[in-house]
Amino acid sequence: MTVRSEAPAAGIWRYADAFEPRIDPPYRISLGEGDTPLEPAPQLAVALGLTSLWLKREDRNPTGSHKDRGMAFQVSAAIAAAAAGGCALRHVALSSSGNAAIAAAAYGRAAGLGVVAFVAPGTDPGKVRAVRANGAVVVMSPNALTLCEAWCVARSVPNLRPSTDPAAVEGFLTLGWEILSDLRDQAVAPATMPEALFTFVSSAASFVGIGRAFDRREVAGFERAVPTPCLHAVQGVGGSVAAPFDSRPAASALQPGRVGALGARKTRRLGEAQRFIRGTHGGGWWITDDEAEAADELLRAHGVHAALEAAAALAAARRAAAESGIRTAIVIVTGADRAGGAMHITSAARSTDAPTRSDPEARTIEDVDRIVRHALGPPPLTGGRR
Ligand SMILES: Cc1ncc(COP(=O)(O)O)c(C=O)c1O
Repeated sequence: MTVRSEAPAAGIWRYADAFEPRIDPPYRISLGEGDTPLEPAPQLAVALGLTSLWLKREDRNPTGSHKDRGMAFQVSAAIAAAAAGGCALRHVALSSSGNAAIAAAAYGRAAGLGVVAFVAPGTDPGKVRAVRANGAVVVMSPNALTLCEAWCVARSVPNLRPSTDPAAVEGFLTLGWEILSDLRDQAVAPATMPEALFTFVSSAASFVGIGRAFDRREVAGFERAVPTPCLHAVQGVGGSVAAPFDSRPAASALQPGRVGALGARKTRRLGEAQRFIRGTHGGGWWITDDEAEAADELLRAHGVHAALEAAAALAAARRAAAESGIRTAIVIVTGADRAGGAMHITSAARSTDAPTRSDPEARTIEDVDRIVRHALGPPPLTGGRR
Protein backbone atom coordinates (compact mmCIF):
# COMPACT_ATOMS: atom_id res chain seq x y z
CA MET A 1 0.00 0.00 0.00
CA THR A 2 1.47 3.38 -1.00
CA VAL A 3 0.96 6.05 1.53
CA ARG A 4 2.92 9.29 1.11
CA SER A 5 4.04 9.35 -2.40
CA GLU A 6 7.58 10.48 -3.23
CA ALA A 7 7.58 7.89 -6.04
CA PRO A 8 7.24 8.92 -9.73
CA ALA A 9 3.81 10.41 -10.22
CA ALA A 10 1.06 7.98 -11.15
CA GLY A 11 -2.73 8.11 -11.12
CA ILE A 12 -4.16 11.43 -10.01
CA TRP A 13 -0.71 12.73 -9.03
CA ARG A 14 0.36 12.76 -12.68
CA TYR A 15 -1.59 16.03 -12.72
CA ALA A 16 -0.01 17.38 -9.52
CA ASP A 17 1.29 20.50 -11.29
CA ALA A 18 -2.17 21.35 -12.58
CA PHE A 19 -3.93 21.20 -9.20
CA GLU A 20 -5.03 24.28 -7.28
CA PRO A 21 -3.70 24.37 -4.66
CA ARG A 22 -0.51 22.49 -5.46
CA ILE A 23 0.23 19.80 -2.88
CA ASP A 24 3.88 19.18 -2.01
CA PRO A 25 5.04 15.58 -2.46
CA PRO A 26 5.37 14.76 1.28
CA TYR A 27 1.64 15.43 1.74
CA ARG A 28 0.40 13.42 -1.24
CA ILE A 29 -1.58 10.36 -0.20
CA SER A 30 -2.16 7.57 -2.67
CA LEU A 31 -3.61 4.08 -2.63
CA GLY A 32 -3.18 3.71 -6.38
CA GLU A 33 -6.32 5.60 -7.46
CA GLY A 34 -6.75 6.68 -11.05
CA ASP A 35 -5.16 5.14 -14.15
CA THR A 36 -8.40 3.18 -14.58
CA PRO A 37 -8.99 1.50 -17.94
CA LEU A 38 -11.03 3.10 -20.71
CA GLU A 39 -12.32 -0.08 -22.34
CA PRO A 40 -13.84 -0.27 -25.81
CA ALA A 41 -17.10 -2.28 -25.57
CA PRO A 42 -18.07 -3.04 -29.19
CA GLN A 43 -20.68 -5.71 -28.44
CA LEU A 44 -22.41 -3.58 -25.81
CA ALA A 45 -22.36 -0.71 -28.30
CA VAL A 46 -24.33 -2.78 -30.81
CA ALA A 47 -26.82 -3.85 -28.12
CA LEU A 48 -27.44 -0.19 -27.26
CA GLY A 49 -27.75 1.06 -30.84
CA LEU A 50 -24.35 2.81 -30.84
CA THR A 51 -21.49 2.42 -33.25
CA SER A 52 -18.85 2.71 -30.56
CA LEU A 53 -18.82 2.73 -26.78
CA TRP A 54 -16.06 3.07 -24.19
CA LEU A 55 -16.49 2.20 -20.51
CA LYS A 56 -14.35 4.18 -18.06
CA ARG A 57 -13.87 1.64 -15.29
CA GLU A 58 -13.88 3.71 -12.13
CA ASP A 59 -15.02 0.60 -10.26
CA ARG A 60 -11.35 -0.47 -10.54
CA ASN A 61 -10.26 2.22 -8.09
CA PRO A 62 -8.83 0.99 -4.77
CA THR A 63 -12.08 1.15 -2.79
CA GLY A 64 -14.32 0.47 -5.78
CA SER A 65 -15.54 3.91 -6.83
CA HIS A 66 -14.59 7.22 -8.43
CA LYS A 67 -14.77 8.83 -4.98
CA ASP A 68 -11.15 7.70 -4.45
CA ARG A 69 -9.93 10.42 -6.81
CA GLY A 70 -11.61 13.15 -4.83
CA MET A 71 -10.70 11.65 -1.48
CA ALA A 72 -6.99 11.15 -2.25
CA PHE A 73 -6.79 14.86 -3.04
CA GLN A 74 -9.06 15.93 -0.16
CA VAL A 75 -7.09 14.07 2.53
CA SER A 76 -3.80 15.30 1.09
CA ALA A 77 -5.06 18.90 0.93
CA ALA A 78 -6.34 18.70 4.51
CA ILE A 79 -2.94 17.49 5.77
CA ALA A 80 -1.10 20.15 3.76
CA ALA A 81 -3.42 22.90 5.04
CA ALA A 82 -2.97 21.82 8.64
CA ALA A 83 0.82 21.75 8.20
CA ALA A 84 0.74 25.24 6.67
CA GLY A 85 -1.20 26.40 9.74
CA GLY A 86 1.42 24.88 12.02
CA CYS A 87 -0.66 21.99 13.38
CA ALA A 88 -0.67 18.27 12.88
CA LEU A 89 -3.95 16.90 11.63
CA ARG A 90 -5.41 14.15 13.81
CA HIS A 91 -8.94 13.65 12.55
CA VAL A 92 -11.13 14.15 9.53
CA ALA A 93 -14.89 13.65 9.28
CA LEU A 94 -17.67 13.52 6.74
CA SER A 95 -21.32 12.67 6.35
CA SER A 96 -22.06 10.28 3.51
CA SER A 97 -24.43 7.57 2.42
CA GLY A 98 -21.69 5.17 1.41
CA ASN A 99 -18.98 5.26 -1.20
CA ALA A 100 -17.44 8.56 -0.08
CA ALA A 101 -17.30 7.33 3.53
CA ILE A 102 -15.60 4.09 2.43
CA ALA A 103 -13.04 6.12 0.48
CA ALA A 104 -12.51 8.55 3.41
CA ALA A 105 -12.00 5.64 5.79
CA ALA A 106 -9.36 4.04 3.55
CA TYR A 107 -7.49 7.25 2.70
CA GLY A 108 -7.69 8.60 6.25
CA ARG A 109 -6.28 5.37 7.58
CA ALA A 110 -3.49 5.40 5.01
CA ALA A 111 -2.57 8.88 6.26
CA GLY A 112 -2.68 7.79 9.92
CA LEU A 113 -5.77 9.90 10.70
CA GLY A 114 -8.82 9.08 12.77
CA VAL A 115 -11.85 9.17 10.44
CA VAL A 116 -15.31 9.89 11.79
CA ALA A 117 -18.09 8.94 9.36
CA PHE A 118 -21.59 10.25 10.08
CA VAL A 119 -24.25 8.05 8.48
CA ALA A 120 -28.03 8.06 8.58
CA PRO A 121 -29.68 5.05 10.27
CA GLY A 122 -31.08 3.61 6.99
CA THR A 123 -27.67 3.41 5.27
CA ASP A 124 -26.86 0.14 3.49
CA PRO A 125 -25.37 -2.12 6.23
CA GLY A 126 -22.82 -3.56 3.79
CA LYS A 127 -21.45 -0.07 3.16
CA VAL A 128 -21.39 0.69 6.90
CA ARG A 129 -19.42 -2.51 7.49
CA ALA A 130 -16.95 -1.52 4.78
CA VAL A 131 -16.48 1.91 6.44
CA ARG A 132 -15.73 0.21 9.76
CA ALA A 133 -13.53 -2.45 8.18
CA ASN A 134 -11.36 0.41 6.90
CA GLY A 135 -10.91 1.59 10.48
CA ALA A 136 -13.31 4.56 10.64
CA VAL A 137 -15.54 5.42 13.59
CA VAL A 138 -19.19 5.32 12.54
CA VAL A 139 -21.58 7.83 14.08
CA MET A 140 -25.19 6.93 13.35
CA SER A 141 -27.42 9.96 13.44
CA PRO A 142 -30.86 10.91 12.11
CA ASN A 143 -29.33 14.33 11.35
CA ALA A 144 -25.99 13.03 10.07
CA LEU A 145 -25.33 15.96 7.72
CA THR A 146 -25.98 18.83 10.14
CA LEU A 147 -24.49 17.07 13.18
CA CYS A 148 -21.30 16.41 11.21
CA GLU A 149 -21.13 20.08 10.19
CA ALA A 150 -21.67 21.24 13.77
CA TRP A 151 -19.14 18.79 15.23
CA CYS A 152 -16.51 19.70 12.65
CA VAL A 153 -16.88 23.41 13.45
CA ALA A 154 -16.91 22.82 17.22
CA ARG A 155 -13.86 20.57 17.15
CA SER A 156 -11.91 22.20 14.27
CA VAL A 157 -12.00 19.01 12.23
CA PRO A 158 -11.99 19.21 8.39
CA ASN A 159 -15.32 18.13 6.89
CA LEU A 160 -14.57 16.08 3.77
CA ARG A 161 -18.15 15.78 2.56
CA PRO A 162 -17.58 15.81 -1.23
CA SER A 163 -20.67 17.90 -1.96
CA THR A 164 -19.28 20.80 0.07
CA ASP A 165 -15.49 20.37 0.10
CA PRO A 166 -14.05 22.22 -2.92
CA ALA A 167 -11.02 19.90 -2.86
CA ALA A 168 -13.26 17.02 -4.01
CA VAL A 169 -13.88 18.68 -7.39
CA GLU A 170 -10.14 19.21 -7.80
CA GLY A 171 -9.53 15.46 -7.43
CA PHE A 172 -12.30 14.74 -9.94
CA LEU A 173 -10.60 16.92 -12.56
CA THR A 174 -8.31 13.96 -13.12
CA LEU A 175 -11.23 11.89 -14.42
CA GLY A 176 -11.70 14.33 -17.28
CA TRP A 177 -8.00 14.69 -18.02
CA GLU A 178 -7.44 10.96 -17.86
CA ILE A 179 -10.18 10.34 -20.40
CA LEU A 180 -8.51 12.79 -22.81
CA SER A 181 -5.18 11.07 -22.20
CA ASP A 182 -6.74 7.57 -22.68
CA LEU A 183 -8.26 8.63 -26.00
CA ARG A 184 -4.92 10.10 -27.10
CA ASP A 185 -3.07 6.90 -26.07
CA GLN A 186 -5.59 4.72 -27.87
CA ALA A 187 -5.00 6.87 -30.93
CA VAL A 188 -8.69 7.74 -31.28
CA ALA A 189 -8.68 10.15 -34.21
CA PRO A 190 -10.34 13.54 -33.62
CA ALA A 191 -12.96 12.61 -36.21
CA THR A 192 -14.00 9.55 -34.22
CA MET A 193 -13.78 11.21 -30.79
CA PRO A 194 -16.80 10.04 -28.75
CA GLU A 195 -19.62 12.55 -29.11
CA ALA A 196 -21.09 12.18 -25.66
CA LEU A 197 -20.11 11.29 -22.11
CA PHE A 198 -22.72 9.87 -19.70
CA THR A 199 -22.27 9.78 -15.94
CA PHE A 200 -24.53 9.50 -12.92
CA VAL A 201 -24.97 12.70 -10.94
CA SER A 202 -25.82 13.12 -7.28
CA SER A 203 -23.92 16.02 -5.69
CA ALA A 204 -22.51 16.81 -9.19
CA ALA A 205 -18.98 17.12 -7.72
CA SER A 206 -17.60 14.60 -10.22
CA PHE A 207 -19.65 15.98 -13.13
CA VAL A 208 -18.42 19.51 -12.46
CA GLY A 209 -14.88 18.13 -12.08
CA ILE A 210 -15.07 16.60 -15.55
CA GLY A 211 -16.55 19.80 -17.01
CA ARG A 212 -13.82 21.97 -15.47
CA ALA A 213 -11.15 19.48 -16.62
CA PHE A 214 -12.29 19.84 -20.22
CA ASP A 215 -12.36 23.63 -19.84
CA ARG A 216 -8.92 23.65 -18.19
CA ARG A 217 -7.39 21.07 -20.51
CA GLU A 218 -4.47 23.27 -21.44
CA VAL A 219 -3.14 23.40 -17.86
CA ALA A 220 -2.93 19.61 -17.96
CA GLY A 221 -0.94 19.65 -21.19
CA PHE A 222 -3.74 19.10 -23.74
CA GLU A 223 -4.12 21.36 -26.72
CA ARG A 224 -7.13 23.65 -26.78
CA ALA A 225 -8.03 22.15 -30.17
CA VAL A 226 -8.54 18.64 -28.71
CA PRO A 227 -12.26 17.96 -29.05
CA THR A 228 -14.14 16.95 -25.92
CA PRO A 229 -17.41 15.01 -25.63
CA CYS A 230 -20.75 16.67 -24.79
CA LEU A 231 -21.63 16.18 -21.13
CA HIS A 232 -24.75 14.21 -20.20
CA ALA A 233 -25.98 14.12 -16.59
CA VAL A 234 -27.88 10.99 -15.58
CA GLN A 235 -30.24 10.91 -12.61
CA GLY A 236 -33.34 9.17 -11.30
CA VAL A 237 -36.74 10.64 -12.08
CA GLY A 238 -37.03 14.05 -10.40
CA GLY A 239 -33.28 14.77 -10.27
CA SER A 240 -32.77 18.54 -10.32
CA VAL A 241 -29.71 18.71 -12.61
CA ALA A 242 -31.32 16.73 -15.44
CA ALA A 243 -34.81 18.21 -14.91
CA PRO A 244 -34.79 20.89 -17.66
CA PHE A 245 -33.31 18.51 -20.23
CA ASP A 246 -35.27 15.26 -20.05
CA SER A 247 -37.96 15.62 -22.67
CA ARG A 248 -39.95 12.47 -21.96
CA PRO A 249 -43.60 13.58 -22.07
CA ALA A 250 -44.80 11.10 -19.44
CA ALA A 251 -42.01 11.95 -16.99
CA SER A 252 -44.42 13.48 -14.49
CA ALA A 253 -46.18 10.12 -14.07
CA LEU A 254 -42.96 8.28 -13.29
CA GLN A 255 -41.60 7.51 -9.84
CA PRO A 256 -38.07 8.31 -8.54
CA GLY A 257 -37.72 4.66 -7.44
CA ARG A 258 -34.40 3.04 -6.49
CA VAL A 259 -32.45 5.09 -9.02
CA GLY A 260 -33.99 8.31 -7.71
CA ALA A 261 -33.01 7.32 -4.16
CA LEU A 262 -29.35 7.13 -5.21
CA GLY A 263 -29.11 10.86 -5.85
CA ALA A 264 -29.14 13.93 -3.63
CA ARG A 265 -32.36 15.96 -3.94
CA LYS A 266 -30.48 19.25 -4.03
CA THR A 267 -26.98 20.23 -4.97
CA ARG A 268 -25.18 23.54 -4.55
CA ARG A 269 -23.47 22.75 -7.89
CA LEU A 270 -26.77 22.81 -9.83
CA GLY A 271 -26.03 26.02 -11.77
CA GLU A 272 -22.49 25.06 -12.77
CA ALA A 273 -23.52 21.51 -13.75
CA GLN A 274 -26.32 22.85 -15.97
CA ARG A 275 -23.96 25.40 -17.54
CA PHE A 276 -21.68 22.52 -18.55
CA ILE A 277 -24.61 20.67 -20.09
CA ARG A 278 -25.73 23.72 -22.07
CA GLY A 279 -22.20 24.82 -22.92
CA THR A 280 -21.28 21.44 -24.40
CA HIS A 281 -24.70 20.85 -26.05
CA GLY A 282 -25.09 17.80 -23.82
CA GLY A 283 -28.16 16.53 -22.07
CA GLY A 284 -29.88 15.41 -18.90
CA TRP A 285 -31.66 12.09 -18.43
CA TRP A 286 -34.15 10.81 -15.88
CA ILE A 287 -33.75 7.05 -15.75
CA THR A 288 -36.43 4.73 -14.36
CA ASP A 289 -35.75 1.58 -12.35
CA ASP A 290 -36.87 -0.58 -15.30
CA GLU A 291 -34.42 1.15 -17.66
CA ALA A 292 -31.54 0.86 -15.17
CA GLU A 293 -32.29 -2.78 -14.39
CA ALA A 294 -32.38 -3.71 -18.08
CA ALA A 295 -29.03 -1.95 -18.56
CA ASP A 296 -27.65 -3.71 -15.49
CA GLU A 297 -28.54 -7.07 -17.04
CA LEU A 298 -26.77 -6.08 -20.22
CA LEU A 299 -23.66 -5.01 -18.31
CA ARG A 300 -23.61 -8.28 -16.36
CA ALA A 301 -24.06 -10.30 -19.54
CA HIS A 302 -20.91 -8.54 -20.77
CA GLY A 303 -19.02 -9.36 -17.56
CA VAL A 304 -19.31 -5.94 -15.88
CA HIS A 305 -20.71 -6.08 -12.33
CA ALA A 306 -21.27 -2.48 -11.45
CA ALA A 307 -23.21 -0.20 -9.15
CA LEU A 308 -26.74 0.72 -10.22
CA GLU A 309 -25.54 4.27 -10.92
CA ALA A 310 -23.39 2.90 -13.76
CA ALA A 311 -26.29 0.90 -15.16
CA ALA A 312 -28.39 4.09 -15.14
CA ALA A 313 -25.67 5.88 -17.12
CA LEU A 314 -25.65 3.07 -19.66
CA ALA A 315 -29.46 3.25 -19.88
CA ALA A 316 -29.16 6.96 -20.67
CA ALA A 317 -26.71 6.23 -23.49
CA ARG A 318 -29.24 3.75 -24.89
CA ARG A 319 -32.01 6.36 -24.79
CA ALA A 320 -29.74 8.97 -26.33
CA ALA A 321 -28.99 6.58 -29.20
CA ALA A 322 -32.71 6.06 -29.82
CA GLU A 323 -33.97 9.60 -29.14
CA SER A 324 -31.10 11.91 -30.09
CA GLY A 325 -29.24 9.91 -32.70
CA ILE A 326 -26.04 9.71 -30.64
CA ARG A 327 -23.70 7.11 -32.11
CA THR A 328 -20.46 7.24 -30.10
CA ALA A 329 -20.26 7.48 -26.31
CA ILE A 330 -18.28 7.09 -23.14
CA VAL A 331 -20.13 5.74 -20.10
CA ILE A 332 -18.47 6.14 -16.72
CA VAL A 333 -18.77 3.04 -14.54
CA THR A 334 -18.62 5.10 -11.36
CA GLY A 335 -18.72 2.23 -8.89
CA ALA A 336 -18.47 -1.49 -8.28
CA ASP A 337 -21.36 -3.73 -7.36
CA ARG A 338 -20.96 -3.80 -3.58
CA ALA A 339 -23.29 -6.76 -3.22
CA GLY A 340 -20.74 -8.85 -5.07
CA GLY A 341 -18.01 -7.66 -2.70
CA ALA A 342 -16.13 -6.36 -5.72
CA MET A 343 -13.60 -4.16 -3.97
CA HIS A 344 -10.00 -4.01 -4.91
CA ILE A 345 -8.48 -2.87 -1.69
CA THR A 346 -6.85 -5.34 0.75
CA SER A 347 -9.03 -8.18 2.02
CA ALA A 348 -9.12 -6.40 5.39
CA ALA A 349 -11.38 -3.82 3.80
CA ARG A 350 -13.94 -6.16 2.30
CA SER A 351 -17.45 -5.34 3.40
CA THR A 352 -18.07 -8.84 4.74
CA ASP A 353 -15.14 -8.78 7.16
CA ALA A 354 -16.55 -6.67 9.94
CA PRO A 355 -19.63 -7.54 11.93
CA THR A 356 -22.59 -5.16 12.12
CA ARG A 357 -23.17 -3.72 15.55
CA SER A 358 -26.23 -1.91 16.70
CA ASP A 359 -25.17 1.66 17.21
CA PRO A 360 -26.51 4.21 19.65
CA GLU A 361 -27.84 7.21 17.74
CA ALA A 362 -25.96 10.46 18.23
CA ARG A 363 -27.91 13.71 18.46
CA THR A 364 -25.52 16.17 20.08
CA ILE A 365 -21.89 17.21 19.79
CA GLU A 366 -21.28 15.62 23.20
CA ASP A 367 -22.76 12.29 21.99
CA VAL A 368 -20.26 12.37 19.11
CA ASP A 369 -17.38 13.19 21.48
CA ARG A 370 -18.28 10.15 23.60
CA ILE A 371 -18.41 7.79 20.59
CA VAL A 372 -15.15 9.14 19.15
CA ARG A 373 -13.36 9.08 22.51
CA HIS A 374 -14.51 5.51 23.10
CA ALA A 375 -13.21 4.40 19.70
CA LEU A 376 -10.09 6.52 19.25
CA GLY A 377 -9.01 7.34 22.77
CA PRO A 378 -9.05 10.56 24.78
CA PRO A 379 -9.05 14.13 23.43
CA PRO A 380 -7.63 16.46 22.18
CA LEU A 381 -9.95 16.36 19.24
CA THR A 382 -8.64 19.59 17.85
CA GLY A 383 -5.59 20.14 15.72
CA GLY A 384 -7.05 20.12 12.25
CA ARG A 385 -7.56 23.64 11.06
CA ARG A 386 -8.13 24.26 7.37
C1 LIG B 1 -21.36 4.88 -7.61
C2 LIG B 1 -21.65 6.34 -7.68
N1 LIG B 1 -21.88 6.90 -8.89
C3 LIG B 1 -22.15 8.21 -9.02
C4 LIG B 1 -22.21 9.04 -7.92
C5 LIG B 1 -22.50 10.50 -8.12
O1 LIG B 1 -21.35 11.29 -7.88
P1 LIG B 1 -21.47 12.82 -7.49
O2 LIG B 1 -21.93 12.91 -6.06
O3 LIG B 1 -20.08 13.35 -7.68
O4 LIG B 1 -22.46 13.45 -8.39
C6 LIG B 1 -21.99 8.52 -6.63
C7 LIG B 1 -22.08 9.42 -5.46
O5 LIG B 1 -22.65 9.16 -4.46
C8 LIG B 1 -21.68 7.14 -6.50
O6 LIG B 1 -21.42 6.59 -5.30
